[in-house]
Amino acid sequence: MGSVTIEIDGRQVTVEEGLNVIQAAQFLDIQIPHFCYHEGLGVDGNCRMCLVEVEGMPKLQPACNLFVKEGLKVRTRTPQVMEHRRLVLECLFLNHPIDCSICDQSGECYLQDYYLDHGNYRSRYDLPKRLKRKRVDAGPHVILDAERCVLCARCVRFCDNITKTGELRIVNRGDRSEITLFPGKKLDNPYSLNTVQICPVGALTSKDFRFSWRVWFLKSAHSICTGCSRGCNIIIDHADNHAYRYQARCNPQVNGYWLCDDGRLSYKMINDHRLHVLTEPSGNSRDTFPRFEEALSGIGRQIEGASSVTALMSPDLSNEDLYAASRFAKEIAGSQRMAAGSLKPDGVEDELLRKADAHPNTSGCKTLNLWGDLKPAIDAGGDLLLVFGSDLLQYDNALLKKIRSSFKSIIIFASHEMKGFETGAWLIPIACHAEMDGSFTNFEGRVQKFDAAIRRRGDTLPLWRILGKIGRAMQREWGWSDLAGLRRDLTDEFPQWKEALIEATPSNKTGVPLKMTGTKEAGEE
Ligand code: SF4
Ligand code: SF4
Ligand code: FES
Repeated sequence: MGSVTIEIDGRQVTVEEGLNVIQAAQFLDIQIPHFCYHEGLGVDGNCRMCLVEVEGMPKLQPACNLFVKEGLKVRTRTPQVMEHRRLVLECLFLNHPIDCSICDQSGECYLQDYYLDHGNYRSRYDLPKRLKRKRVDAGPHVILDAERCVLCARCVRFCDNITKTGELRIVNRGDRSEITLFPGKKLDNPYSLNTVQICPVGALTSKDFRFSWRVWFLKSAHSICTGCSRGCNIIIDHADNHAYRYQARCNPQVNGYWLCDDGRLSYKMINDHRLHVLTEPSGNSRDTFPRFEEALSGIGRQIEGASSVTALMSPDLSNEDLYAASRFAKEIAGSQRMAAGSLKPDGVEDELLRKADAHPNTSGCKTLNLWGDLKPAIDAGGDLLLVFGSDLLQYDNALLKKIRSSFKSIIIFASHEMKGFETGAWLIPIACHAEMDGSFTNFEGRVQKFDAAIRRRGDTLPLWRILGKIGRAMQREWGWSDLAGLRRDLTDEFPQWKEALIEATPSNKTGVPLKMTGTKEAGEE
């Protein structure tokens, strides 16, 4: 596709053909207000908020439906444009409840922001406001407040064109127009929470997130969903070292603008059922024995004394942790058998995003030549079993019993509590993806980096770090002082990952344009 040069507010910009003026203006950091346009949904042209002046055209033009062409000259803040925006806002606010102080969208609401930027008028309307339905239970995850709706139809188009489930419609005319569900229908498709993220106002809110935290207090980090092997790009919104929600982060090559509901709500695993303290086989936690380092020495002695060692790895681990675990198993523990695999049942797969493989890094295990069948490795039994990852022993009770009888000792490196191993195994807490930098390889072989969002709690460390500590406790010069060093070693052995892991900065190599329109990030428009 070719490029064209256009002028916006007297500044020139060269952009790809096919973009509209809202998109082109963003390259100049010029935000053109809009409600109905969304990059993932295309042009609808119903809100008229985006009108701009175009040289040679007598009337204001909608920037969402105005596509760049050589020599186009646009002005976005002339008196006529500003007056038009004020009038659109005045109409939208006629029957709006203006309940920002109790609205969950406050702080990331287009209407609120645009009023402050372009409205700032005193209302001329003194008739009673038209009341509409509030706090409607729209579906398992979504609450609808029809009074706050600006009738942009983003949610309608999402359900019609993306999920093709068509639950929503705008009904009636004039000031009686209202967003509603088809009679007898609920907004219960597996992607319903995307409507909350794309709703520009507080008309659709998330049952899970609403009233849990004010968005201006949230901090954000770029990460990857761990719910399945798609590897959807996400933002982790967090505060006070607690994760509050995942928001979709646009990556056209992976997830577009969307997340599935299960993945979006899987942020809870960052907070819940975590293993925070090192626990010895008797069930005593580190609090009851003298020092963390002493415990690591004890673990080191156990590894040294083992006559046969089997190592199992989870496809929930990052590429970096898998690499460190496999080298530790070989070089430090002298493991005879090693396999990465899963006992977790497959999830649901569909044509939009969801993949049956419920792990984020099966491809990483395969590229590192670790993928294998866990059962023969377990059946063989032995002196010591090393388990890297929490999910490995959770789905098969018979196997769990077999493990207990087949191995003399067990050391488990886990981010979450391990049912059935409260005693009888060393439990060593490791960081989950939200607490460290790392990378996953998705089902297509795309290596995607993620950034730490929250601080680690208790004894928790990234697996590669704790393995280095155990190595040193065994008087071995082994491990890495930083992630960059580990990645250098990893990519020396697997050079195909060099570009993604060494040369790319977080998130950009993965094809992610960090700048988004139409999806809300905390602190952004
Ligand atoms: S509920 Fe939200 S997304 Fe749907 S039409 Fe109203 S404002 Fe737009
Ligand atoms: S499709 Fe998979 S990776 Fe994407 S949000 Fe859902 S569970 Fe997460
Ligand atoms: S008319 Fe252009 S964004 Fe709504």
